[in-house]
Amino acid sequence: MQKLALNPSNGHVPVLANEVLTILAPAPGESVLDCTLGLGGHAGLFLNAVSPGGQLIGLDADHTNLVAAKKHLHSFESQIQLHRMNFRNASSIPGLPIDIVFADLGLSSPHVDDPERGFTYRASGPLDLRYDRSSGQSAAEFILSSSVEEITKVLREFGEIQRSYQLAKGLHIHFHTEARHLNDWKTDDVVQCVEKVFTYRAPKVLPQVFQALRIAVNDELGALRSLLDALPAILKPGGRCGIISYHSLEDRMVKQHFRSLSTPVLDERTGQVATPAPWDLLTRKAVVASAGETSLNPRSRSAKFRAIKRLSFD
Ligand SMILES: C[S@@+](CC[C@H](N)C(=O)[O-])C[C@H]1O[C@@H](n2cnc3c(N)ncnc32)[C@H](O)[C@@H]1O
Repeated sequence: MQKLALNPSNGHVPVLANEVLTILAPAPGESVLDCTLGLGGHAGLFLNAVSPGGQLIGLDADHTNLVAAKKHLHSFESQIQLHRMNFRNASSIPGLPIDIVFADLGLSSPHVDDPERGFTYRASGPLDLRYDRSSGQSAAEFILSSSVEEITKVLREFGEIQRSYQLAKGLHIHFHTEARHLNDWKTDDVVQCVEKVFTYRAPKVLPQVFQALRIAVNDELGALRSLLDALPAILKPGGRCGIISYHSLEDRMVKQHFRSLSTPVLDERTGQVATPAPWDLLTRKAVVASAGETSLNPRSRSAKFRAIKRLSFD
């Protein structure tokens, strides 16, 4: 069996790879659900560790990434099942429960590198921003079909943008001044509106605006909530779950959910533990990338990894 390297030949380096493997400790014969396969970087490392005898189920909402991951993982063909699927539906896949659930949230480098996907404000492309282009609304459709108040809410909550209302109004007016074919709305249209409102501060605000639109059109927080809620159904007793997030809204959700799962119930009168927590935190604080990793891979700078273990007695 060919072992996949930490620095694979496709040039993609998985974030916090050593930390993920050390903390989740995959062992030969175990089963893994990788909810965000991407280019298959983490998946390959999990497969190295669970071989011989282990299995990996990989999900990705993005068809192109799924094809790339399949190619990268071809030497493990008999041990993998790959599904084009949103991880919000993870509890419906066959082969559960499982030993390890892993998610490395958000977008992957091909999303940013290919302007045709509309994830980047640095190049002109169709204003799309969906991982799964076969379902849901593109960012252009979202702006065209939303009220100023709805756009404001997205910009404020998901981008933490000041002057959200002014920008939402600017976008609403711009997108309603002429009738265009959906694909003719470009990332440039959003860039122009941001520059109008924020002038010289636009370069700082643009990443937040694109983040907000991406979170909205992919319902990223809704998908994460569904995955967290499904953990008891998809993880075996003794199983582990690890999640890498890249912005504070996701990290807060993971932190609070893991904390509530791992908090024992106390007797109101005595303050003693009445029911021990059925889950145990594997990370007290979020694990972040080392200086060495962040200098090699800038995306790892905002990565936060948290993990939890389901105890065997519940
Ligand atoms: C950061 S990349 C994963 C990279 C991967 N760990 C690797 O090492 O190659 C995140 C991937 O998750 C996918 N994704 C994001 N949200 C998703 C969702 N709700 N359901 C399924 N896939 C999703 C994206 O399409 C992207 O390919």
